[in-house]
Amino acid sequence: MCLSPAESEMLSGSSIQPNSSLQPRPLIIGPSTGPKAPYPLQMEGRVIRGFGRGSSELGIPTANLPVDENLTPWIGDITSGVYFGWASLRLPSSHPNHPTTSSDTTTTTTTTEFSVYPMVMSIGYNKFYNNKDRSAEVHVLHEFGAAFYGIEIRLLITGFIREERDYDEVQELIDDIKLDCVVTRNSLDREAWALRETGKGTLDGSWLVRETAEQNGDVV
Ligand SMILES: Cc1cc2nc3c(=O)[nH]c(=O)nc-3n(C[C@H](O)[C@H](O)[C@H](O)COP(=O)(O)O)c2cc1C
Repeated sequence: MCLSPAESEMLSGSSIQPNSSLQPRPLIIGPSTGPKAPYPLQMEGRVIRGFGRGSSELGIPTANLPVDENLTPWIGDITSGVYFGWASLRLPSSHPNHPTTSSDTTTTTTTTEFSVYPMVMSIGYNKFYNNKDRSAEVHVLHEFGAAFYGIEIRLLITGFIREERDYDEVQELIDDIKLDCVVTRNSLDREAWALRETGKGTLDGSWLVRETAEQNGDVV
């Protein structure tokens, strides 16, 4: 689980690091004018199962997406590491966080079936676990009442935070991810990085919430 809003607030804009074993690094990424090329990048897919360590070992649940250069042409060339941006989820009406059926007041609802949230993600081999295959793992910055395997997810990746690292202890990995969450919130909490669709910013997030003809039930 990421830092609470209060803890995050304490770190926002400062250079204090929550744990001295962490390498000092910037707590905000990118210029105030918004994402710089090649960002924002788009990625989409259906949520698949990973090894399940995110929830069980780290307490930081992740939604895994297939790493497939046919679907995401840029992914083969991009540096392995941590990225941040926005995620949209198409939750089924049976899901506790579905925008129209839930009492979840913190969800950013839109006029579509998609719900939009800030996200931080890792693309790489998870050096600490020595994975053989490259994975894309998204931590959505929101408390969910249930898992959402198989649902459609879209990502608007707005920037790069750091390269992936190996660690001596699992706690160091957890602390580094918590700091990534703080960096994400700080960075997205600026007008040119917040989505126009949320009413809080100017960044174009229309792709995140666009219904395709197929989703509308139209014959294609
Ligand atoms: C924001 C973020 C940063 C991460 N950074 C690293 C890292 O530096 N090194 C690493 O080995 N794994 C990193 N991971 C990957 C985690 O190890 C991985 O999400 C966890 O093992 C769960 O994987 P699973 O879903 O396949 O079980 C990161 C994950 C996230 C969400």
